[in-house]
Amino acid sequence: MDFKNTISITHQTEYIFSNNLFEYLESLSKNFSKWVVFIDYEVYLKYKNEIGDNKNFKVIQSGEAQKDYYKIVDYYKFLIDHEIDKNALIIGIGGGVVSDIVGFVATTFKRGVPFGLIPTTILSAVDAAIGGKNGVNFLGYKNIIGSISQPNFIIFNREIFSALPQEIFIEGFAEVIKYGCIYDIEFFEFLEKNKYSVFNVDSQDFLFVLKKCVEIKNEIVASDPTEKNMRKILNFGHTLGHAIEASESIPHGNAVSIGMHFAAFVSLQKGFINLEMYDRIENLLENYGLPTSIPFNVDSILKKMSQDKKRNGDFIDFILLEQIGRAKIIPLSMDEIKNYLNLWKEEIN
Ligand SMILES: NC(=O)c1ccc[n+]([C@@H]2O[C@H](COP(=O)([O-])OP(=O)(O)OC[C@H]3O[C@@H](n4cnc5c(N)ncnc54)[C@H](O)[C@@H]3O)[C@@H](O)[C@H]2O)c1
Repeated sequence: MDFKNTISITHQTEYIFSNNLFEYLESLSKNFSKWVVFIDYEVYLKYKNEIGDNKNFKVIQSGEAQKDYYKIVDYYKFLIDHEIDKNALIIGIGGGVVSDIVGFVATTFKRGVPFGLIPTTILSAVDAAIGGKNGVNFLGYKNIIGSISQPNFIIFNREIFSALPQEIFIEGFAEVIKYGCIYDIEFFEFLEKNKYSVFNVDSQDFLFVLKKCVEIKNEIVASDPTEKNMRKILNFGHTLGHAIEASESIPHGNAVSIGMHFAAFVSLQKGFINLEMYDRIENLLENYGLPTSIPFNVDSILKKMSQDKKRNGDFIDFILLEQIGRAKIIPLSMDEIKNYLNLWKEEIN
């Protein structure tokens, strides 16, 4: 077991880097009256032998559909069947889908049961599991119902990531690049220089990336836990990203990558960043194998965007860049967004 790499304790969350996941989980759950685990199906397959027929595990099939509001009742039923109370522990092992489900269910069941997360995709390790936000989908609208509450712990286990299919592994780097764009130019430069070592889960550079992203997200969240202002910058790329993800059914990271490209384009059009910065952002995304465009219908994207949580009347708080490493929040009217979408569509065609 490796307890030495605990990096920080903030927002009541303990961050643990552990080499032996199951041993560590066992020791941890002794502190609670009962424990149950929600585990992603693909991860379950990997650890089938260790799990056996343990009835405390609930396997969550892969895919965004598991996060639908109507599915949540099944998860509450599982907790009732296991007589989960406020002294019990709910653990989520999986990607962002599982961390959102567990965060939401644990926070709302009996008005709050302790929970811990073990992210198994890059995207969940650097973003979805960090910061306490969770969301479930309703009537096709992404994350439209949710809450904010911090997990008791997050365990990172590098071995888990080695089983990830390549496209899912790469997709997570959209959120990694996001942190460089909005918060830390040195990190952006590090990513520009070190793609090959960063992609190696056994390397120190990979570990550095995980820790750096957790640190950046925590700093931003700590300065604005309830997303009144600063925390909104984490939505860079997400306004268009969420709309595209919902209307074109593409994975979250890929949608965010396209959304960041659009946000960089708007930042360029507004004269906030210059062409050289815009090109660097585009090149970094493409160099990491991420998409920067997709054919789309402007009207259906705008319809999805109109449900954006950052909408205020006819305006949406859009996250733009004033330089690489510094973001700003600019309200854009739906008409302005429509114009930029049409301009960008011409540019990427
Ligand atoms: N709450 C937040 O702050 C926040 C932030 C970002 C994203 N999200 C949410 O996260 C979700 C996307 O997360 P994701 O990209 O991790 O997707 P995911 O959870 O759907 O996982 C992607 C795929 O990888 C498989 N998988 C997971 N771990 C694996 C492993 N170790 N080995 C092999 N296969 C594995 C899953 O079965 C699934 O097919 C979206 O629902 C998004 O809205 C939430």
